[in-house]
Amino acid sequence: MTTSDAHVASKAHEPNEFGYRSYELGEFHFSRDEYFAYLNWPTGRHVMSVDAFLRALQRDVAWDFFYGIVNFDGVLGTMNHYGTVDLFAGRYNDAYRKAELDHVETIDTPIIRDTFAAMLADWTNDGFDPFASPEETGSAFGPKHGDNIAANTRHRVTAQRMVSLPGDEPLRSDDNGHPVNRMFADVTQDEPEVHAEPGFENEVGSFNLFAYLSRSPVTWNPSVVSVCRESLYCPTTEEYILPIIHGNDRAEWFVQLSDEIIWDVEDRDTGRKRAKVVVKPGDVAAMPSDIRHQGYAPKRSMLLVWENASLKIPELISSGRFPTQPVEF
Ligand code: PHB
Ligand code: FE
Repeated sequence: MTTSDAHVASKAHEPNEFGYRSYELGEFHFSRDEYFAYLNWPTGRHVMSVDAFLRALQRDVAWDFFYGIVNFDGVLGTMNHYGTVDLFAGRYNDAYRKAELDHVETIDTPIIRDTFAAMLADWTNDGFDPFASPEETGSAFGPKHGDNIAANTRHRVTAQRMVSLPGDEPLRSDDNGHPVNRMFADVTQDEPEVHAEPGFENEVGSFNLFAYLSRSPVTWNPSVVSVCRESLYCPTTEEYILPIIHGNDRAEWFVQLSDEIIWDVEDRDTGRKRAKVVVKPGDVAAMPSDIRHQGYAPKRSMLLVWENASLKIPELISSGRFPTQPVEF
């Protein structure tokens, strides 16, 4: 394994015969053609279907590298150190590690952020929305034709206190471009009445979370809808496959609000299989901090992801002062 310092160079090349630019980050080289994304580094090469690659890249960009590890698949991914990001190939893959074919570049966050955003913009064709379910978007394939910057840069909901409060993230409606999704046609759309005591109008609020989620235009994209200090409620609507395999750096709680998700749970560092978890409405799952997981949703479903965003947690866990299991039974 080789590790460079954080000041790696980034470079974009002229478009290839298919119209797509290629990108360098340190010793990694990214390119695409009509069907595939290719990654090359000094000791290896890797290929992914470009639609899966773009769905993962879209989330890594929109979430600014998220919590811990975003695996695009079993080989390629990023690990967030909140200021720098490790870009890796094979680092969390037992076979690559044992063969010493893995590679890591530690990159200042603004550099990898800008390069990933540029690659996402260049490689996304008109008509393909990496956040949409496969049934609700067009094809990622073919020679370059147009772009979809509006989808790539869409607003990420991050409430300061709670959705619907004055000055905070607004409710969704037909009028602001958020129709009810085809799979949530049966979700009631009434809103709670709030009768605050005089003087408390700014302190008391309430909204219909099911109605709010039924109008989400995207999949596998947690929104921050309420905040209590470091505790974030991040519900999301899921359909088809979570486009990343998330490697935790903290525990996460999942509350399944509707329908069903099948979770594949693996050891975070080696990829060894650990569990298959099927969650049904009302089920609560505590995901430990030493795993990685990927979800499969046969029908559009509502999931509440509950995060603690404290920057202290990764160190408390890696130093052994915090348990990896969030709960003991
Ligand atoms: C997760 O990795 O915990 C995660 C990510 C996106 C989702 C749901 C869960 O939509
Ligand atoms: Fe996760």
